[in-house]
Amino acid sequence: MKIELKPTTSLGEATDVLCVPCFKGESTARLSDLDKELHGMLKTMMKSESFDGSSGQWAVFPILGQAKMKRVALIGLGDKGVFKLDDVRKLTAQLVRRARDVKAKRASILFPSTTMTGRELGSAIAEGALLGAYQFHTYKGKLHEEKKKDLETLVLLNPDAAKRTSMESGIQEGSALARATIFARDLVNTPAMDMTPKQLADAAKQCATRGSGISVKYMDQQVMERMGMRGALAVARGSVHPPVGVHLMYHPKKRAKKKIAIVGKAVTFDSGGLSLKPADGMMTMKIDMAGAATVIGLFQALSLIAPNVEVHGIFLAVENMPSGSAYRPGDVVKAMNGVAIEVLNTDAEGRVTLADALTYAERLKPDAIIDLATLTGACVVALGEDIAGYMGNDRKLLDRLGGAAKEAGEEMWELPLHQPYKELIKSKIGDIKNIGGGKWGGAITAGLFLSHFVGKTPWVHIDIAGPSYVEKETRPDLPYGGTGFGVRTLVRYLQGLG
Ligand code: BES
Ligand code: MN
Ligand code: ZN
Repeated sequence: MKIELKPTTSLGEATDVLCVPCFKGESTARLSDLDKELHGMLKTMMKSESFDGSSGQWAVFPILGQAKMKRVALIGLGDKGVFKLDDVRKLTAQLVRRARDVKAKRASILFPSTTMTGRELGSAIAEGALLGAYQFHTYKGKLHEEKKKDLETLVLLNPDAAKRTSMESGIQEGSALARATIFARDLVNTPAMDMTPKQLADAAKQCATRGSGISVKYMDQQVMERMGMRGALAVARGSVHPPVGVHLMYHPKKRAKKKIAIVGKAVTFDSGGLSLKPADGMMTMKIDMAGAATVIGLFQALSLIAPNVEVHGIFLAVENMPSGSAYRPGDVVKAMNGVAIEVLNTDAEGRVTLADALTYAERLKPDAIIDLATLTGACVVALGEDIAGYMGNDRKLLDRLGGAAKEAGEEMWELPLHQPYKELIKSKIGDIKNIGGGKWGGAITAGLFLSHFVGKTPWVHIDIAGPSYVEKETRPDLPYGGTGFGVRTLVRYLQGLG
């Protein structure tokens, strides 16, 4: 899909659908010009459809006897005072999906003027349009209906002259963000049979193109053994697919102001291991590498967005399976930093692998570590499926990330890293247990577990078990399946640093 700006006032250009978003109770010169051009049809339609610009209203009507413009869609934006950037994303997402349904090839939008900057607006328009149009068709067989064709061109008509250039760069940026997010979505949606640890690691290679400033280092099982990554190795032991460690690096052209490490949980399939999950709980567990998918997506974006920050992306890809060689409840594994983990439930495997990934990250001596993990069902119980939980040891980092998420339009809510709960994960046999005794506070005890592996480095853990995957759609820019949650937040965070 191409997104174009047309600095024209001429509405006579050919289009399958001209979209006219309107604020409630606002009548603009643009609207009356258009109405004149359509011989009063716009006003007539507004009246007959009781269209007043209320949020969510759509009135679509054909323009008969006019070959060029096939339809007009009036779209209610609600009150101008409460209209947000996120509403722009939802609007263009819904627009491209509706356009697809009526087989439109070309749509144009006559956007009303707002106080948003051109850059914000351009980015949100592109993000919404591209993310809303996302479909995962790779695995359709001979029975599937033909794939619906996406809109070919989305034209933004007559933008505010002063915002034109910044809007252009916003569109570029938003497109890059969306493409990176879509890359992550594809990885998450791919079945575990085709997304083994090696295949996930290979996907990271695609970011390291020449001239991108990105390179990648692999650690095979032997290297991981030599490094003492006994946590990740223990989890991997039940699977026929050996583990692979991945270290992505991005070096900016100029001297970097900061060095940031991003760690992702990379369990390509989580059966629970010997503490086997019930069938229902296993159904979606191909998504348990969503953290790593976000890391890869982020690096995809870095080559285009190029912030002035050194970035390290780390994940230890493993598959958690039950077998004669699997790690067992009761086993004690000494993690890479020497902390002895008593494994009481092999289904709490994410933290056991992240232990070593975080130690590896900490040894790079970064200014901050951020990890993303589909870590606990408890976090989904607490916040529902739309919202990620985040927690950490550094106020400034927490606030920066919270701000970046707001800007990106991704929902996150802070959970307290309540130190007294450390009692709950104390082990009598080893140092710490991988589960928290009782049934409460599971997202927090998991976070506290991870805190043992970051030393004094400022660190934030983001539990994305809920928002990494959509089963029931609640927003048009988040179609069914993997969401690529976190890519946009991380890019905004890194942009804010350099
Ligand atoms: N990958 C799961 C968490 C998960 C649950 C992600 C639902 C996405 C949706 C994780 O490895 C897990 O199994 N966690 C256990 C921990 C428990 C055994 C302490 C859980 O949440 O039940
Ligand atoms: Mn698990
Ligand atoms: Zn898991």
